[in-house]
Amino acid sequence: MNPPLGAPLPAGPGLLLGREHDLSRVTDLLHTGCWLVTLRGPGGINKTALALYLAQWVQAMYGHVQFVDLSALRDPGEVLNAIAAQLPLSANEGDPGRLIREFTAQTRTLLILDNFEHLLPAALHLAELKTGEGTLQIVVTSRAALGLHDEHEHPVGPLALPEGVLHAASSPAVQLFVRRVQALRPSFELGAGNTPDVIRLCELLEGGAAGAGTRCCPPAQLRPA
Ligand SMILES: Nc1ncnc2c1ncn2[C@@H]1O[C@H](COP(=O)(O)OP(=O)(O)O)[C@@H](O)[C@H]1O
Ligand SMILES: [Mg+2]
Repeated sequence: MNPPLGAPLPAGPGLLLGREHDLSRVTDLLHTGCWLVTLRGPGGINKTALALYLAQWVQAMYGHVQFVDLSALRDPGEVLNAIAAQLPLSANEGDPGRLIREFTAQTRTLLILDNFEHLLPAALHLAELKTGEGTLQIVVTSRAALGLHDEHEHPVGPLALPEGVLHAASSPAVQLFVRRVQALRPSFELGAGNTPDVIRLCELLEGGAAGAGTRCCPPAQLRPA
């Protein structure tokens, strides 16, 4: 049977810097049959981008991969409805938990549930989706763990910082920082004059250099090298 046609995955981040270890660990968890993997970490650390990249990476393992953005949902009681609404179900009347179980029993499915942190009471509803067949696997992104006993948490940490100025250009944290600054100031380049400042800023951002574009403005001392 051909896999059902669902909504295409949203475009990923394009380039994912320095997340090889995260990708490999979560892929291993899925390969070994983990039912629920939570990518846990603070906002802006890279959870959504990692989940999207992962979805593309493992897509061939599944008949269907569904990305569901839960950020706008306010009621934990609506989580299963939100998931069912995204799946290419042949019928959509009735209990959403039953509809999802029926779908996933027939089609090996990976659900990516993005932004779960404000819906933690809905973890109990996710548990209702688990069946003996093991044909459903779920990856959740959240600032907090869901607290289910068979959940595998994968903490998403800061990008690695450079060992010293000589290694700055090859450090993922610095590379991301430079890309974010260049998005605001295209003439910016990493050079001998500004590398120590860049490293210091990456340290202050705890390697979460995504914030360079969103949490602060490029400081005046970041002049072109
Ligand atoms: N390692 C990385 N490589 C490439 N882009 C990154 C990386 N880390 C963060 N970003 C970018 O930073 C922003 C925040 O990442 P995001 O995945 O949305 O964080 P979160 O979901 O944890 O809030 C996104 O624009 C993302 O593309
Ligand atoms: Mg996110």
